[in-house]
Amino acid sequence: MGIKEILEKEEFTKDEIIRLLSAEGEDRIMLFRKASEVKEKYIGKRVWLRGLIEFSNICSKDCLYCGIRKGNRKLERYNLSDEEILAAAKFAFDNNYGSIALQSGELESKTVSDRIESLIHKIKELSDGRLGITLSVGEQEPEVYRRWYEAGAHRYLLRIEASNESLYRKIHPNNSMHDFRRRLDCLKSLQDIGYMTGTGVMIGLPFQTLDDLAGDLLFMQEFDIDMCGMGPYIEHADTPLIEYADKLIPAVKRFDLALKMIAIIRIMMKDINIVAATALQAIDPIGREKGVMAGANIIMPNITPGKYRDSYRLYENKPCTDDSEEDCRNCLEARISLVDHEIIYGDWGDSKHYERRRKGWSL
Ligand code: 5AD
Ligand code: FES
Repeated sequence: MGIKEILEKEEFTKDEIIRLLSAEGEDRIMLFRKASEVKEKYIGKRVWLRGLIEFSNICSKDCLYCGIRKGNRKLERYNLSDEEILAAAKFAFDNNYGSIALQSGELESKTVSDRIESLIHKIKELSDGRLGITLSVGEQEPEVYRRWYEAGAHRYLLRIEASNESLYRKIHPNNSMHDFRRRLDCLKSLQDIGYMTGTGVMIGLPFQTLDDLAGDLLFMQEFDIDMCGMGPYIEHADTPLIEYADKLIPAVKRFDLALKMIAIIRIMMKDINIVAATALQAIDPIGREKGVMAGANIIMPNITPGKYRDSYRLYENKPCTDDSEEDCRNCLEARISLVDHEIIYGDWGDSKHYERRRKGWSL
């Protein structure tokens, strides 16, 4: 079967996904064309924003790929004050962003969960309930997820990072703090509580195969996620995985694979929200725009106060760490219109898949 025939099918098998991930030349163009048609039909040439507030880089975990891992002693740690977080949220609201995403390193404690709950209330208050809130603060007890949901957060991003358990174990320390099963349980409880639930993976990790990546896409489909965020893996000198830097596929290949992953998940899950991850732009200066062309419909402009941005360095070459919030906004406007898309302001931009899933409708 050729790529054209595969693209006409309703469902893909793992082997077919591997074929799509390997597509070159005309075949590759056919894949991107199909994804763009699907996106135009189900989403439109539109992009929604989530103002990203990286409110703390303090982390209790030690993921082997991540620059803000606990074991990285070279990093200056910060924790924004409530006032700074609320000022960033107010900036998003005043600039009509529609939604914000609160992201930080992973910490589980009563102080942290109480604080986040109170921040959610305050953000709802300052925006008259109109600013949508996405959380991305890692693994927590169901009880904690529930409290935050009841306080008004309605979306949660928790990347599975690698859905193949044996690969997951290779990129995390093998201890109870980094337990694949717990991560799955967390995702499940987020979905059960009622969150619009997002997950994703890194692409081009050491030891990762096309079979793993195809498995990741099938995992997301099977899990029936509402949102997807995935981007290329980018090495970081102060992490253990740097040891395998010479075994990685070249950055441009990782980038191309990430675009293909976006295109394929768009075709497989037509009405979900897909983020054009910032990591795309760490490899290609117009990486996020290419992500949008390949099927993404969400961009997360960084609205963390400037002086902290450099310290939230998950990977090297992270873009936009020098720009002010205003610069970012103007820059994005220009960038998105260049790829013939429109930014939708003042709207939550909820995943349409969520409503359909909850009501049991078909497409
Ligand atoms: N390269 C790319 N993405 C990374 N992340 C963490 N470290 C890296 C890296 N070295 C991603 C993880 C995490 C998200 C916040 O950032 O997928 O879930
Ligand atoms: Fe930040 Fe362009 S989006 S500089």
